Amino acid sequence: MDKNFKESFEKTKVAGMIAAGALDEVAKIAMPGIRTEELDNLCYEYLNDYGAYSAPLFYRGFPKSCCTSVNHVVCHGIPSDKILREGDIVNVDVTAFKDGWHGDTSRTFEIGEVSIKAKKLVETTYNAMMKAIKIIKDGTHLGDIGATIQNHVEAEGFSVVQDFCGHGIGQQFHKEPNVLHYGKKGTGEKIRAGMIFTIEPMINLGKYETKTLNDGWTAVTKDKSLSAQFEHTVGVTNNGYEIFTLSKL
Ligand code: MF3
Ligand code: CO
Ligand code: CO
Repeated sequence: MDKNFKESFEKTKVAGMIAAGALDEVAKIAMPGIRTEELDNLCYEYLNDYGAYSAPLFYRGFPKSCCTSVNHVVCHGIPSDKILREGDIVNVDVTAFKDGWHGDTSRTFEIGEVSIKAKKLVETTYNAMMKAIKIIKDGTHLGDIGATIQNHVEAEGFSVVQDFCGHGIGQQFHKEPNVLHYGKKGTGEKIRAGMIFTIEPMINLGKYETKTLNDGWTAVTKDKSLSAQFEHTVGVTNNGYEIFTLSKL
């Protein structure tokens, strides 16, 4: 690997491991009866324990340390006194800022037993993200990433959210390029070794359209159908990729 990537890759990995570690702890307490603000408190404390800061906290006025997006909430759900119930799905999105660098990751958790449809949605979303990550190498088109996700998801009858995308990340939380989760093979910018970005598909059981609630943050599906999301921060190497936000479990 190019010496120039070394610092950015190593530091992103440190931040990414902390964010992933917070989600490993969230997984242990995400069960019926818990409030989303309890998940938020855990993230705040975990990041603090590892000498990291939450990038979302006070980001453009966002009031909490993580996003908790329940059922038909697509993304940017604000932790609150809302109690999670058996059958809910909740995406928890954590971004750690450590030593000047960011690690951004999210997972969708199933609360107790969920419906077969919800399980299928969560599974398909995860598989779509991983399938897209696996094609990453120097020279891959951004459109190949989008197409891989869109084809996988639409084959199951689900839809890809278009209003939000993955993003370059590093010393800045959000930077170029935009990483769309739909698209056409062979189109768009070619990704290059040394680039760091997120892949974070939001997939709906129903239609792809979203709207944002009056709080200015919470994005929901227009048709109120369930939505799932997973996110990893990845780096492009000469012949492949490295995932910086892997679970330690
Ligand atoms: N972590 C989200 C992302 O994946 C961004 C959250 S911004 C917030 O890009 F302000 F809503 F927290
Ligand atoms: Co992100
Ligand atoms: Co995120």
